[in-house]
Amino acid sequence: MDKIIIEGGTPLAGAVTVSGAKNAALPILCSCLLTGGSHTLHNIPALRDIRTIQEILANLGVAFEVHEGVLTVNSDNLHGDTAPYQLVKTMRASVLVLGPLLSRLGKARISLPGGCAIGARPIDLHLKGLSAMGARISLEHGYVVASADKLRGADIFFDIPTVTGTENLMMAAVTAEGRTNLRNAAKEPEVVDLAAMLNGMGAHIEGAGTDTVTITGVKDLHPVTHTIIADRIEAGTFLTAAAITKGNVRIQGCRVDDLEAIIEKLLDTGMEIRREGADLVAQGNDSIKSVDIKTMPFPGFPTDMQAQFMALMCIADGWSMIRETIFENRFMHVSELQRMGADIEINGGQALVRGKGKLSGAPVMATDLRASACLVLAGLAAEGRTEITRVYHLDRGYQDLDGKLASLGSKIWREQY
Ligand code: UD1
Repeated sequence: MDKIIIEGGTPLAGAVTVSGAKNAALPILCSCLLTGGSHTLHNIPALRDIRTIQEILANLGVAFEVHEGVLTVNSDNLHGDTAPYQLVKTMRASVLVLGPLLSRLGKARISLPGGCAIGARPIDLHLKGLSAMGARISLEHGYVVASADKLRGADIFFDIPTVTGTENLMMAAVTAEGRTNLRNAAKEPEVVDLAAMLNGMGAHIEGAGTDTVTITGVKDLHPVTHTIIADRIEAGTFLTAAAITKGNVRIQGCRVDDLEAIIEKLLDTGMEIRREGADLVAQGNDSIKSVDIKTMPFPGFPTDMQAQFMALMCIADGWSMIRETIFENRFMHVSELQRMGADIEINGGQALVRGKGKLSGAPVMATDLRASACLVLAGLAAEGRTEITRVYHLDRGYQDLDGKLASLGSKIWREQY
């Protein structure tokens, strides 16, 4: 296994380019199940989660070809309806094959998902929505078994806006009979990107990016060429890296409008961020002000940036209250930050961080994807050497984060252990 070693204290300097968004690429790859023919996808990031979903799709009969970074996906010869436990267990987003398989084959068997250990993370809202569309659903031996002769449009209200739930139901609804309304739907940019892909295939989806998405079922879909949007969480991680190292970084190829909540909070800490077209130029400040954050569905502050922002608050000046409202148990990075000298007190879904101006390098262990990024950022700022084990979590969702940071001047490298 790999570990990442960081000698902290070097301000980042230079330019870096953001990769395609993991959370857009995953549902978009699954949407290729909806129809035969060859889809062409640009800007698919090279990540472990992407390889996992490709394995799940290949197991169903989907064929892939890569040519000069462009991925061709063909599902003419589907021969299965099952996403097995061995493949699904590492990644919760595997549940995204459920909607498209039901639409295309009228049946699906999906192992209940695993993924990041950040709370119970049920899929009840996905299943309730599919049932409302006429699917028969049972749970058998750890598998969701679903079938439907013909899905029908339905009025579906989500108790909580769910990103993959909205995506799954959008994919189920595109060829259903009649109209589906998804209310209190997730508004994340990745939902909008999936809707663009599906509309390109001939679907009729309106309102993606608002809290009501309306899908009018169509009879036929066709293959499409699509470019995945830039990853807003990766961009936000580099902005925070500039802040925490007091560096100067040009982050290229951002979707700046998707980053508003993150940019606002970082500006409040005293750093400078300048927009130049699709680039953001970030200049860290010597003194970092403490600010409070509360994670919210888009366009609020993303839960996927909470851990990285907490690392920054550890070296800020003053108290910061960090409230996590999306996932319970998403503070597993706290005990590792404490090993690096952070002063953090957890009370339910709140973490009170007393910024101490510095952190000290230590051996730490990554516990989930965003917690790994938090520890990398903490290591960049810390005095001395930080060794991070279990970095396979990082590789699930960041394309070559350590390589990109090294290109910005960080003393960061991998070793086997
Ligand atoms: C997606 C993202 C993940 C991000 C999260 C929140 C992908 C592949 N992953 O995860 O990176 O952290 O959105 O922005 O896009 N819930 C239920 N029942 C359900 C579904 C969800 O109670 O059936 C709850 C969850 O426990 C959580 C909240 O709804 O409290 C939001 O979760 P959801 O938006 O579904 O997260 P994911 O789609 O899994």
